[in-house]
Amino acid sequence: MDLKNRNFLKLLDYTPEEIEYLIELSAKFKALKKAGIPHKTLEGKNIVITFEKDSTRTRCAFEVAASDLGMGCTYLGPSGSQMGKKESIADTARVLGRMYDGIEYRGFAQTIVEDLAKYAGVPVWNGLTNEFHPTQILADMLTIKEHFGHLKGINFSYFGDARYNMGNSLMVGCAKLGLNFTACCPAKYFPSEELVNTCKEIAAQTGGSITLTEDPEAAAKGADVLCTDVWVSMGEPVEVWAERIAELSPYQINSKLMEIAGPNAKFMHCLPSFHDLNTTIGKEMGEKFGRDSMEVTNEVFESEASIVFDEAENRMHTIKAVMAATMGGAII
Ligand code: CP
Ligand code: NVA
Repeated sequence: MDLKNRNFLKLLDYTPEEIEYLIELSAKFKALKKAGIPHKTLEGKNIVITFEKDSTRTRCAFEVAASDLGMGCTYLGPSGSQMGKKESIADTARVLGRMYDGIEYRGFAQTIVEDLAKYAGVPVWNGLTNEFHPTQILADMLTIKEHFGHLKGINFSYFGDARYNMGNSLMVGCAKLGLNFTACCPAKYFPSEELVNTCKEIAAQTGGSITLTEDPEAAAKGADVLCTDVWVSMGEPVEVWAERIAELSPYQINSKLMEIAGPNAKFMHCLPSFHDLNTTIGKEMGEKFGRDSMEVTNEVFESEASIVFDEAENRMHTIKAVMAATMGGAII
């Protein structure tokens, strides 16, 4: 498998075999890391990671992975660089491409990261846009594989805002890898008809399926994985909270839903999560709307079924695999 010089912008650009390879490569890197075996396969190279939105996991995953692979890493945050303000994306891409061997971008429209890739001349990786979050899906799939032993045939139910980056990307990832994906939310939160149709066509080839439902109990029944995401994403105005809480509350993952799914079901979330009031926004919104949690109860979040921190750790191993594969430092 040769993915050298490829961008990693969305899973739609990758074949099922290529995605499976990246997951396998991630597992290999994880094993090396756990065994304390050095793997500086990209020694002497440098990457830049650019963030127009905040991040804990993605930023740290790129920084640690770059260091493990022997690379230098520069962080450009939401302020402090010329990008997007005094300098266009095309010009920024050509400057960064002259100095770095790979570029990560987190920000707003998918068109921005696609543009960056057009002009950079080095691999560009999508660290989250409004539409897609592909590196997160690799981590989620590695995590499911670790817990269930396989991906094909897994019943994956996603509750909440399914038309944004996580809902879209999970649907694509499940379709590509033969999982049965269910989006459960009010119809206005379903992914676009165009993307649903594309994913249905892909699923028809891989043995997976795509289901859209407004019924939480139906989506929980038989589910191996129950997954959700924040109801209000980064960059969205604070005013949408009231509407989201009113419309998405019936889709909160709580112990009743987990019980319907059964004792072997797992809870997943890309994080960060509003499962209690121990954050500034969680406290403010919780008090304003008289709630102690949003998309998942604290009980489920803290339960045995919750594998959210496995997912978080796997961000690092999978991002390492993406960089290694696209920069020529893969070990398989
Ligand atoms: N899941 C995820 O992307 O987390 P960060 O926003 O912390 O990077
Ligand atoms: N949908 C969330 C994902 C965070 C990792 C957001 O865009 O804020």
